Amino acid sequence: MAKRTIVTMGGDGIGKTVLPEALRVLDAAGFKADYVSAEIGWDCWCRQGNALPQKTIELLERHRVGLFGAITSKPREAAEKELAPELRGRGLVYFSPIVGLRQHFNLDICIRPCRSFPGNPLNFVRRSADGSVVEPKVDVVVFRQNTEDLYCGVEWTNPPDQVRKALETHQKMAAFKDVPSRDLAVSCRILSRPATRRIIEAAFQYAAGRGYKSVTVCEKPNVIRETSGMMWSEARETQKRFPGIQLWDTNIDAQMMWLTKNPEDYGVVVSSNMFGDIVSDGFAGLVGGLGFAASANLGETVAVFEPTHGSAPKYAGYPVSIVNPIAAILSGCLLLEHLGESKLAEKIAGAVVRVVKEGKVRTYDMLRRKGSPDVLAQGAASTGQMGDAVIKALKKA
Ligand code: NAI
Ligand code: MG
Repeated sequence: MAKRTIVTMGGDGIGKTVLPEALRVLDAAGFKADYVSAEIGWDCWCRQGNALPQKTIELLERHRVGLFGAITSKPREAAEKELAPELRGRGLVYFSPIVGLRQHFNLDICIRPCRSFPGNPLNFVRRSADGSVVEPKVDVVVFRQNTEDLYCGVEWTNPPDQVRKALETHQKMAAFKDVPSRDLAVSCRILSRPATRRIIEAAFQYAAGRGYKSVTVCEKPNVIRETSGMMWSEARETQKRFPGIQLWDTNIDAQMMWLTKNPEDYGVVVSSNMFGDIVSDGFAGLVGGLGFAASANLGETVAVFEPTHGSAPKYAGYPVSIVNPIAAILSGCLLLEHLGESKLAEKIAGAVVRVVKEGKVRTYDMLRRKGSPDVLAQGAASTGQMGDAVIKALKKA
């Protein structure tokens, strides 16, 4: 096995406590890699005025694979207030470094698997017509376009005159004709055909390679005709090359309702950025929530893997970390798959399955407790104990 170099970016808050567990598990599973640690996040912003230092970008350019924890983001004004005094008033503007990374390296394909683990007390259950309770097996993989849509940042409050004039070339702007520009906020949802094709192609390839029977485009083309319409028409074109895979479409609002009605019916789901964010959190909620939700952000040259949760500031800085490292550990599995180490990925996923099923080691979220330092005394496992349990379970493979 060739040795790789992985750029590790703990970031802020619990990112710093879950990432080391993922690394310990990768190591214990026999993955041989060198790790180089890179700075990112709130501390960088406060001290240097840049949450995504150039050095971190260069390390990712060189090594091409990153494992990321989480960062803290705050609105612009709050960010400005926390800058080191000597940096204030220089016009520095805070941008989320994870959004920055996705855009800098064009990490346009985001993959978020949402699979239920047998025995997870957080799995969604549903009452049947006869009153019995069933636990549907969820095996959904959300493909989220990661760089465009409402996240592309083309927006204004009080749009400049030329923007307003351009908008007024559309007849539907007549509805706003009496609203002064200062009372208008505009956020543009922009989709490009090449990026739309790439996310749809990636979803079909994945479905074909892994035996999923359907790809569902989750959008809203009946209302958002141009952008959701492009997702749908490109999906129809792409499907012609994958005759063995059914193409379904759902509207994002209906899909959120169907989550609890028939989640077991879905396989690969593909969405633009905003709807992908929403629907992936929705499916993640059925299989244990943020403690279980891993993601891959893939570009043409660089790939970054991360739990989808944030830095959970309220649980940061505990003397012993209580949060669930499984999402970070599963992000490590996605990294292994990306590097072609599917056997190792399966080995780790298998160990997580065993730990969850056995049920002896559970972090506070799995016990449905409210997080506090006391949970450890009440039987909850710490972040490190969960890491230990997964490592122990690796040996039982
Ligand atoms: P969050 O994901 O940090 O936490 C929300 C809640 O989910 C937590 O309070 C906790 O109850 C639970 N939770 C999260 N991760 C968990 C884990 N591993 N184990 C057990 N429970 C867990 O989201 P929130 O509170 O909205 O944001 C906190 C900060 O994180 C903000 O500054 C936000 O901007 C940032 N953020 C960063 C992301 C990233 O780095 N990719 C993603 C989402 C939020
Ligand atoms: Mg989200």
